[in-house]
Amino acid sequence: MSEPVRLLVHGASGRMGLALLRLAADLPQVQVVAAVQRKVGQRVVEGVPFFAAAELHGAPTFDAAIDFSLPEAFDAVLALCVERGSAFVSGTTGLSEGQRAGLQSASARIPLLWSANFSLGVAILDELVERAAVALPGWDCDIVEAHHSRKLDAPSGTALALGAAAARGGAQPRYASLRAGDIVGEHLVQFAGTGERIELVHRATSRDIFARGALHAAARLAGRDPGSYRLRDLL
Ligand SMILES: NC(=O)c1ccc[n+]([C@@H]2O[C@H](COP(=O)([O-])OP(=O)(O)OC[C@H]3O[C@@H](n4cnc5c(N)ncnc54)[C@H](OP(=O)(O)O)[C@@H]3O)[C@@H](O)[C@H]2O)c1
Repeated sequence: MSEPVRLLVHGASGRMGLALLRLAADLPQVQVVAAVQRKVGQRVVEGVPFFAAAELHGAPTFDAAIDFSLPEAFDAVLALCVERGSAFVSGTTGLSEGQRAGLQSASARIPLLWSANFSLGVAILDELVERAAVALPGWDCDIVEAHHSRKLDAPSGTALALGAAAARGGAQPRYASLRAGDIVGEHLVQFAGTGERIELVHRATSRDIFARGALHAAARLAGRDPGSYRLRDLL
């Protein structure tokens, strides 16, 4: 069997980071060699060395980084991947235009994948939304998303990605956001005509679907040629 892909997990103490560490422990094709969070308490947890954000450059050699953190933490880990020539997988949302441009220029140097949503269901929903928008010219298109009350950005990155799919099909999407309780993530795309409407809905009930998608993507991205990859190219 080939050597496991060495991973750096950025945002390791967060809701997504904890899911990534838990699931990675059961995946033989990956090995987490560094976990990074803003501040560090315990240095090694279940064999994984932890680093504070300020110590990022002290992390050992890694083949791919998986980043689920915050926009203010994003630039440093992307820069480290470019410096080290490592692959970069990120699901951090709420990025600025400048950060999106940074991803674009980094893709000339390293293989990378940014996705607003790492679930298979949303990848399919994206295609359905574009097809519906093409088939229903002139219908109103509204995207309603709901997430847990501690989510910072709105509309969600997934809602914006679904809106981009609708726009590719010719629709002009509008957005509404709900923040409540512990909702993992729900997206409704509604097309309304005269006397009828279509509702396309995706409900995530566990963060594990995103973490699993990101781990598989990182394992398959490491060692590839530089470029900006899509989730569907890798899963
Ligand atoms: N694409 C997808 O499929 C998907 C799915 C779910 C979530 N997300 C996105 O992923 C991101 C994280 O979500 P979450 O719910 O896991 O958030 P969270 O629970 O708030 O976790 C944020 C993580 O980032 C770390 N962090 C904050 N500032 C940092 C810094 N300056 N340097 C290094 N690390 C820093 C935090 O460390 P401390 O604990 O030390 O502060 C924590 O580990 C959000 O943007 C969310 O929208 C994307």
